[in-house]
Amino acid sequence: MSEIAVIVLAAGQGTRMKSRRAKVLHEVCGVAMLEHVLQTAETLSPSRLAVVVGRDADEVQKRYADRAEFVLQAEQRGTGHAARVALAALPELSGDVLILYGDTPLLRPETIERMCAAKRERAADLLLLSAHAPTIPGILVRDAEGRLERIVESQDATPRELAIPERNTGVYLVSAKLLREGVESLAPHNAQGELYLTDVVGHAVRHGFRVETMLVEDAEECLGVNTRRELAAASRVLRRRIVERLMDEGVTFVDPDAVYIDAAVRIGRDSVIEPGVVITGRSRLGEGCHIKAGCVIEDSRIGNDVTIGPSAHLRPGNELASKVKVGNFVELKNSKLGEGTKAAHLGYIGDADVGAHVNFSCGAIVVNYDGYKKTRSTIGDHAFVGCNANLVSPVEIAPHAFIAAGSTITKSVPTDALAIARDRQRNIDGWVARKEGRAPARAPRPDAGAEAREMATVVQAEIAPATGRRRRRRPPPGRRR
Ligand code: UD1
Ligand code: CA
Repeated sequence: MSEIAVIVLAAGQGTRMKSRRAKVLHEVCGVAMLEHVLQTAETLSPSRLAVVVGRDADEVQKRYADRAEFVLQAEQRGTGHAARVALAALPELSGDVLILYGDTPLLRPETIERMCAAKRERAADLLLLSAHAPTIPGILVRDAEGRLERIVESQDATPRELAIPERNTGVYLVSAKLLREGVESLAPHNAQGELYLTDVVGHAVRHGFRVETMLVEDAEECLGVNTRRELAAASRVLRRRIVERLMDEGVTFVDPDAVYIDAAVRIGRDSVIEPGVVITGRSRLGEGCHIKAGCVIEDSRIGNDVTIGPSAHLRPGNELASKVKVGNFVELKNSKLGEGTKAAHLGYIGDADVGAHVNFSCGAIVVNYDGYKKTRSTIGDHAFVGCNANLVSPVEIAPHAFIAAGSTITKSVPTDALAIARDRQRNIDGWVARKEGRAPARAPRPDAGAEAREMATVVQAEIAPATGRRRRRRPPPGRRR
């Protein structure tokens, strides 16, 4: 492939997004629009990859400093002006230049490869990617013989031109020489008073350059995001693509339309994803996993044959080994769970290193935050954490330790030990009967402890006046006779 440089235009204000952030940083399936475009550009191994930035330039530049070079367009005077600023910063550029837009995240690398081939085959100086999509603003105006004449923007078009369905996607492959000459020729003769990059096409035609168009097969690829509605539309398209790719790779979706999987997520074959599942960030799931309905999995790594949900929440930073089982209403954060470990119902495991074959019973919690700082706990292999236990971090539970239900554990527990940290149970005979003013169904056991009998007297004394008060209380006004 001949040498190719890429210029990404990403300086626009994005006014129609009505946002505090630069438009190109808005995400489509968990990945910023500009990032999608950079990934596509990178597949070409371009000689230069330059991004024209304007709004929030510092933030955009900082985020992608190692991926591209940046050219500042201090004042946004249009797409043609942006290209002019870029070329001024790259004076030695030769060969071909591919122009991409930071707000067109769905373009496929295959389409660009086809453009490169078409430009070569047709010996074009400028190859423009067109689409049959009447919602795209740039209109391709052809002469009587069908030769492309110029591009007119909808705002500047006549009613006759507006009826033309063939549109400009904004993706151009153009010789650096023509582009340089073209952007120098631009003047702001249009409704917006901007320098339009599209006018380079008219200039090229008028000056005898060879201008060709290539129709994109799938117009969805060229969806430009200018509004929140278009952002949602782009997300819908990409979401579908992601799920279809995963299905091709051997993942089952019970309902492919009812899941939200980010672009960078990877899932192994034979995994089954039920409806209402959201998997975000750079999450990795192994093979044979079963993610039941209503789970949210953020930036976590999950081994093979893991079962999660229904309705479980994995916040970022978890690593689950194979055969782990996480049940309903369990939240995990920044924790490691070893092979075969189970947390089947209702619990929170935060900042913990949990070994293999550990059992977290219903309602067990790792108390990782004391109101000031977060600390980690360690739970060894084969430990058993009973129902409703609190492990107050930092604490170390050795392998094979057993935590009794309802215990609040603040000290380490050695191997094989039973830790029980809760009040001893007392039964007070006849307490309920006395409270309700009837004779106890069962006489106090003759062996009832003195302590229990004393308690009973105390409690009796306390409830008597209280119930007395309740009896004297007046009925609510509505029910008064
Ligand atoms: C542009 C094209 C239109 C095409 C459409 C495809 C022009 C004049 N119009 O219209 O023919 O059909 O794209 O989506 O080129 N930008 C800058 N600096 C600026 C202005 C814009 O970097 O001064 C960047 C924006 O950040 C954006 C891209 O250029 O990424 C396109 O700009 P936008 O204003 O969205 O152009 P459209 O009206 O969509
Ligand atoms: Ca646009």
